Amino acid sequence: MAQAAAPIVQVWKDPNCGCCKDWIAHLEKSGFRTQAFDTGNTAMRRRLGMPESLGSCHTALVDGYVIEGHVPAREMHRLLKERPKALGLSVPRMPVGTPGMDGPEYGGRKDPYDVLLVARDGTSTVYQSYT
Ligand code: CU
Ligand code: CU
Repeated sequence: MAQAAAPIVQVWKDPNCGCCKDWIAHLEKSGFRTQAFDTGNTAMRRRLGMPESLGSCHTALVDGYVIEGHVPAREMHRLLKERPKALGLSVPRMPVGTPGMDGPEYGGRKDPYDVLLVARDGTSTVYQSYT
């Protein structure tokens, strides 16, 4: 059987942000196709209903789910497989060591972080912890 086409991730980001580009490269390496919009992400985050308190440098949309920040492709694949009732996923702010924040300039530093599952009412639970 042929593989299903890779899902498209639409990404709203700052044109000058290098870590967004590195996150997109991570997605492309991990089985996603991407489409980027260099418009900034504040307006789109608000429009899609992702709380500002969970905000990061880019906002994305894949198959109806909102993805905020440096979420690993692994949890995105899991999300699309499990299809929970949720708004989407967020890694708030920009922890060092997340995909796209793991280049040589960080010297191998890895901060612990959580991937949050965000409900439509803006509450969140831990979907995956990286320590
Ligand atoms: Cu970033
Ligand atoms: Cu970014």
